[in-house]
Amino acid sequence: MGKIPENILNEIQDRCDIVEVISNYISLKPSGRNFKACCPFHHEKTPSFVVSPDKQIYHCFGCNSGGNVFNFIKEYEKMDFIDAVKMLAEKTGVKLPEYKSHDDQDSSVVSTLYSINDIAVNYYSNFLEKAGSSSDVKRYIVKRGLDAVVLKKFRVGYADSSWKALIDYLSGRGVKQDMILKAGLVTKGKDGAYYDLFRNRIIFPIFDARDKVVGFGARVMDEAMPKYINSPETAIYKKGLHLYGLNFAKANIKEKNFAIITEGYLDVMTCHQYGVANSIASLGTALTTEQIRLLKRYTHNVVMLYDADQAGEMASLRGLDLFLEEGMNVKIATLEKGHDPDSFLRKFGREKFDTAINKSKSLFTYKLDILKNKFDKRDPESKAEIIKEMLSTIYKVKNAIVKAEYIRLLSYELSVKEDAVWEELKKIKDKRPSDFNRSKQDVKRPIEISPAEKILTRLMLEDINVVKIVKDELKPSDFRNHDIRNIAEALFLIDTDGGLIDVGRLINSMENKVPQNVVSFIVNEEVDIKDKEKNVCDCIMSIKKENRSRLLKDIQSRLDIAQKSGYEEEEKRLLEEFNQIIKKGV
Ligand code: UTP
Ligand code: MN
Repeated sequence: MGKIPENILNEIQDRCDIVEVISNYISLKPSGRNFKACCPFHHEKTPSFVVSPDKQIYHCFGCNSGGNVFNFIKEYEKMDFIDAVKMLAEKTGVKLPEYKSHDDQDSSVVSTLYSINDIAVNYYSNFLEKAGSSSDVKRYIVKRGLDAVVLKKFRVGYADSSWKALIDYLSGRGVKQDMILKAGLVTKGKDGAYYDLFRNRIIFPIFDARDKVVGFGARVMDEAMPKYINSPETAIYKKGLHLYGLNFAKANIKEKNFAIITEGYLDVMTCHQYGVANSIASLGTALTTEQIRLLKRYTHNVVMLYDADQAGEMASLRGLDLFLEEGMNVKIATLEKGHDPDSFLRKFGREKFDTAINKSKSLFTYKLDILKNKFDKRDPESKAEIIKEMLSTIYKVKNAIVKAEYIRLLSYELSVKEDAVWEELKKIKDKRPSDFNRSKQDVKRPIEISPAEKILTRLMLEDINVVKIVKDELKPSDFRNHDIRNIAEALFLIDTDGGLIDVGRLINSMENKVPQNVVSFIVNEEVDIKDKEKNVCDCIMSIKKENRSRLLKDIQSRLDIAQKSGYEEEEKRLLEEFNQIIKKGV
């Protein structure tokens, strides 16, 4: 079965209120009969995101995303439609029928990989638990200062030095060899046989934001290289998509409205052990746009807390510009040389740590300080260099007021005329006109519907009696817009004895046929329709007229060709057709 039955979707929808569901993610303010908010799907300062409790749908008039409660969850949580339905089914206590996606094989591979990872996590953590207190691993754990609570919470484990222990264990539990391979837990030896990938290492499971184990990191317990071996990419683990610790930190991130981003596994664990519960890690790599967007669901504010050895590098600074491009506020905290968050907390404690966080600098100040150290700011060429570097960052600041303030500060700091700095900024703009196009894919295609079709559909969606009238006058194919055609088709099918039209349900019944946002767009758009009956008549008339003139134009042009080419028979037929339409009137 590739589709969840409509009745189930409706049942789930009946049991939850879209306003309540969306309020769990963003704060909604009442506005007339509806609720409004700044859109969570694009960056904006004035709210254009509308939720309608009557219709149980939402729509953003800034980026055109919209739909019913399932669509919201799907977009917000970046889930498949199916997963969004599952999540709401669970919340509302509706039982779903046994379900497999289109690609039966794919979805069963994915769920098998999750369960293999689960078995592996248990296996590794049991191993750690059982290890004697004088074993290397226990001694190492003690040396690192990880307490029992944090070990348990992060499900830390241990892989001993045997070559086949995990493979044997998984096989013993009926897991097929090829699946263990797909889970990325084994490696092929020179002899062609498979061996456990992680040996004699501490195991750190990597979770996704929903607590599922997607992969592993494994650290040596001495100075051997490589320090870490991480899971290869699998069907459920892609590098740069996850943030380590987000599953544990997300609630606290929301509460404090900022996140602390560190580099490594141990930084996050130590932070949590010391009660810094809003810390996560990028896991060594440079942050990706996907990671930033993932975090953006919980907060727009981040403090970068990278190891004190690296943070000074321009390269990592450039990476931070990504935050600005995503409309996030980023600050940078620095630690004493040679420390990472883990070692700093252990040596100096929580209070000093908090001080360091509180002293974090804006990206602007931080970067400018570095540049001022690097260049002599009295020398004109150096000044120009500093300004150029700074502008590449300022250019990406989305807020116009913040941007202007930075320009003012920069010109002040370097004793340069503000106008000159603005001029340089303009040069960047001219040079890179497509820089912002990157976020274009976020903005949905504009919805182009003729006013008559839009208003008529709106009126139909509001009143079943209008549907009745329209049904007598127009066929679905009379509508020019393809989506409207499908909506009309669905509306004409509704049992006209029924009372109100449940728009949320209607969206369910049209799944895949009509983009989810079209209906919400039509329904939520603020238009003041005074005389409904007259409007219905006018719209029907205008659609008919438009169709008629289009038809006539089409016949006319074919007639021209027929005449020019001497197809007399065709010419006669077309003329007749033409006259008949003229005679019939509208
Ligand atoms: P670090 O070298 O700072 O390691 O790398 P760490 O986690 O702080 O560990 P300690 O304190 O030295 O024990 C930061 C992160 O970079 C990734 C890991 O995710 C690590 O947590 N990394 C580092 C690797 O993936 N592989 C490596 O070989 C090294
Ligand atoms: Mn470190």
